[in-house]
Amino acid sequence: MLLLPFQLLAVLLPGADNEDDFQGPTSLHVIWISSFANRTWAQSQLSGWLDDLQIHSWDSDSGTIIFLKPWSKGNFSEEKVAELEELIQIQLRRFIRDVQAHASEFQLEYPIEIQGIAGCELHSGGSIVNFFSLAIEGLEFMKLVNDTCIPSPEWGRRAQQICTRVMEYHAFDVTWKKLLLETCPLFLLSVLDAGKAELQRQGKPEAWLSSGPSPGPGRLLLVCHVSGFYPKPVWVMWMQGEQEQPGTQHSDLLPNADWTWYLRATLDVESREAAGLSCRVKHSSLEGQDIVLYWGQPTSIALICLAVLVPSFILLLCFALCYIKRRSYHNTT
Ligand SMILES: *[C@@H]1O[C@H](CO)[C@@H](O)[C@H](O)[C@H]1NC(C)=O
Ligand SMILES: *[C@@H]1O[C@H](CO)[C@@H](O)[C@H](O)[C@H]1NC(C)=O
Ligand SMILES: *[C@@H]1O[C@H](CO)[C@@H](O)[C@H](O)[C@H]1NC(C)=O
Repeated sequence: MLLLPFQLLAVLLPGADNEDDFQGPTSLHVIWISSFANRTWAQSQLSGWLDDLQIHSWDSDSGTIIFLKPWSKGNFSEEKVAELEELIQIQLRRFIRDVQAHASEFQLEYPIEIQGIAGCELHSGGSIVNFFSLAIEGLEFMKLVNDTCIPSPEWGRRAQQICTRVMEYHAFDVTWKKLLLETCPLFLLSVLDAGKAELQRQGKPEAWLSSGPSPGPGRLLLVCHVSGFYPKPVWVMWMQGEQEQPGTQHSDLLPNADWTWYLRATLDVESREAAGLSCRVKHSSLEGQDIVLYWGQPTSIALICLAVLVPSFILLLCFALCYIKRRSYHNTT
C-alpha cells in the first residue's frame, strides 16, 4: 500500500545513462516527501531528478508536473503527461489514506514524515535497473529489490509487517509494475535524448587560488577554487612539481545555479613550504590541457605589479602633460 505513490514517482523520475561513453546523468528518480500532521491533515512534495539535477517539480494544488527544462518532458505527449499526472494524484491520495488508516497499527506517531525515492538507472551495456525505497524521519525502513520488499533491520518487526502488507498489495498491482518497469525506462531514455545537448555539454572550469584562515602560527591554508565545470567528474590536487600532495583535502561538490559544479581543494602547509606548490585541475572539457596554478606565482605577482605600475605611470604622465601645458601657457603669455 505504501508503495503506490512511489510507482508514480518512479515513472516520473527514472534516472539512467545511455551509451557507455555517455558522460551525463544516468538515473531518473522521483523524491517524495509526505508530512502527516495528524489523522486528518497531510501534504506531499514531489520532485523529479536526473542524478542530482532537478528537472521536475510538482504543483500539488493543481496536481500537475512542472517541467523545469524545455526537454524534461522527453517525448511524452500531452495526453501521456496528463495520464501520468492523474495517476500520481490518485496514488498520492491512496498513499496518504493508507498511511492514515494504518499509522496506529504500525505504531507510527504523529507528526510523521515519510520520504521516498523511486526511479530507474541506466547501467553500462544498456540495462536499466529500478530502485525504490521508503524512509521514516530520514531512516530507511524498506526498499524493493527485484519486486521483493526488503525491510531495514533498524525498524525490526514493524518494517517486516509493513513489507508483508506492501507485498500483499503490490502483488496484484499492475499499475505499479507498468510504471516502474515500462514508463520509467522509456521516460529516462527519452529525457536523456531530448536533453542531450545540455546534458552532454562540456563546461570548462575556471580556477583561482586564495589563502584560508591560518591553521596555526607559521602555517598557511592554501585554497584552490575550481568552478563552472560540467559534467561532474573532476580531479583537483595540490602538487609539488609532479608529486601529488597527499594532504590535499576536497570540499563537497557544490552546485552552481547554472547547472555547473564548484569544488575547493585545500592544503595546510608550513608558510615557507608554500612557494613552489601548484594546484592542478584535470577535467574532460580541458582535453588534456590541465590547468596549473602556482602559489605566489609570477602571474599573480606580475598582475599586482601591473596594477600598481599602470596607474602610477598614468599619474606621472598626467603630471608631465600638465607641466608641459602650463609651461607652454606661460610661454605664450
Ligand atoms: C491537523 O493539523 C493541521 C495542520 O497543523 C491543523 O490545522 C488541524 O487543526 C489539525 N487537526 C486536528 C484534528 O488536530
Ligand atoms: C534482480 O534480477 C536481475 C535479473 O532478473 C538479476 O540479474 C539480479 O541479480 C537480481 N538482483 C538481486 C539482488 O536479486
Ligand atoms: C520516445 O523515446 C524513446 C526512447 O528514446 C523511444 O524508444 C520511443 O520510441 C520514443 N517514442 C516516440 C513516440 O517517439
